[in-house]
Amino acid sequence: MVKPKIAPSMLSSDFANLASEAERMLRYGADWLHMDIMDGHFVPNLTIGAPVIESLRKHTSAYLDCHLMVTNPLDYVEPMAKAGASGFTFHVEASQDNWKELIKSIKSKGMRPGVALKPKTPIEQVYPLVEYETPVEMVLVMTVEPGFGGQKFMPETMEKVRELRKKFPNLDIEVDGGLGPSTIDMAASAGANCIVAGSSVFGAPEPAEVISLMRNSVVQ
Ligand code: DX5
Ligand code: ZN
Repeated sequence: MVKPKIAPSMLSSDFANLASEAERMLRYGADWLHMDIMDGHFVPNLTIGAPVIESLRKHTSAYLDCHLMVTNPLDYVEPMAKAGASGFTFHVEASQDNWKELIKSIKSKGMRPGVALKPKTPIEQVYPLVEYETPVEMVLVMTVEPGFGGQKFMPETMEKVRELRKKFPNLDIEVDGGLGPSTIDMAASAGANCIVAGSSVFGAPEPAEVISLMRNSVVQ
């Protein structure tokens, strides 16, 4: 049985107070902290990179679930490992030529490899990476177009989650974008167990309640 992992997206936090924001989310019951690395090229937004992960790592031992929305993920493996990243999830659209090397390199640096796909990318594209001799250990099905927090959940992406769950009963399947109390049941019943949520958690009067509600939905 896969375990629920609730991962607040720190993109919605106050970046000027990242350490205390992280501490607050863990106190509210977060399992992981989701860190969105954007290079302004793979997606039309620029966020943080290894130096910020390194700074945060000095303040927490939490699992840092790093989502790399970058054109050249291989260039980030070494710096992210040195910075203290826990999970390294790259996009399948950005790794057509080198995913084998990428997975091996991520693992050899002690991080957990994951692959992400955009809403319009067919699910079949990630199958070889899950079936490889050194497989990815998580698939992140994007439920919005990557780049920004606060967008609307795309229910049509749930078909991909369902197919993936049917094929890989023990795989960690993460969903990211527009998740919150009104959409969590759709994602959980489709088979997602790792839930990223930014605006719905940080924007809630009681973030702990939102985290616990989402966990309960996955467990059922
Ligand atoms: C979007 C990022 C998400 C984002 C989710 O490209 O990958 O992690 O922060 O934010 P919400 O939950 O607000 O849609
Ligand atoms: Zn993300």
